[in-house]
Amino acid sequence: MKRLTVVLVAIAALAIAASGAAVFAQAEKAPGVVILKGAPMGGVKFDHAKHAKAVGDKCDTCHHASKAEMPAKTANQKCTDCHTKVAAAPMKTKLQAAFHDPMAKKGLCIDCHAKDEAKKAPVKCADCHKKENV
Ligand code: HEC
Ligand code: HEC
Ligand code: HEC
Ligand code: HEC
Repeated sequence: MKRLTVVLVAIAALAIAASGAAVFAQAEKAPGVVILKGAPMGGVKFDHAKHAKAVGDKCDTCHHASKAEMPAKTANQKCTDCHTKVAAAPMKTKLQAAFHDPMAKKGLCIDCHAKDEAKKAPVKCADCHKKENV
């Protein structure tokens, strides 16, 4: 009995280690530019490199840690995999809310942009959402 338990624990530990390594080895490097689509006013071009000065290597400023309600499959997984147009339970934060509130006065992207003293970071709808971003 005891030996069986030891073997089972060892197998479980190996399985966890293997899946963990497989999961977090992928999707580590930040892509240059990603275009987020869906809003009727047009897509939003997000440039990791342009944000390097503001956030450094702190990826978790935006790519938050895995949460129990919907655990992450990879490190830095796409926001849009989990935050969808309409939030379906157990999710509460819909696509828009992951980035900003309805009037774009607050939220992950806006809070920081509003503080940018150089005023290079956009806060107006049309400075992020552009029809040409397809
Ligand atoms: C200021 C916010 C922000 C920061 C900081 C940030 N990212 Fe991102 N990242 C995004 C957004 C937004 C996307 C697009 C997500 C989507 O398409 O749903 C993205 C996408 C990605 C993707 C593509 C995921 C996929 O499967 O296509 C990877 C990989 C990634 N980021 C890695 C990183 C790494 C590594 C860092 C740190 C060096 C980093 N990111 C820092 C906002 C950020
Ligand atoms: C693997 C799924 C998953 C991915 C990928 C993901 N999130 Fe989340 N996010 C969650 C869950 C689960 C919550 C907590 C429940 C809720 O608010 O819906 C959450 C909550 C949030 C919140 C609400 C505040 C908070 O921290 O509770 C914001 C803002 C947010 N995410 C932004 C983002 C952004 C931006 C990205 C991409 C850079 C992202 N999320 C990627 C699952 C995910
Ligand atoms: C920690 C601060 C911070 C956060 C968080 C942040 N930004 Fe920025 N963003 C900046 C700064 C600073 C600039 C100005 C960069 C420059 O041009 O020097 C900028 C510029 C931009 C620009 C205009 C530059 C370009 O690519 O043409 C866009 C679009 C943008 N951010 C989108 C986003 C989105 C979308 C998010 C949320 C996923 C986000 N940002 C989150 C600080 C931030
Ligand atoms: C800092 C950049 C930024 C600014 C400023 C901004 N947005 Fe967004 N918004 C985003 C990103 C990124 C998304 C997620 C991608 C998408 O849905 O297009 C988003 C999503 C949305 C959505 C959800 C679309 C959907 O598919 O469900 C709406 C609606 C929206 N924004 C409206 C606005 C309005 C109205 C304003 C101005 C009051 C505004 N946004 C300002 C970046 C921005």
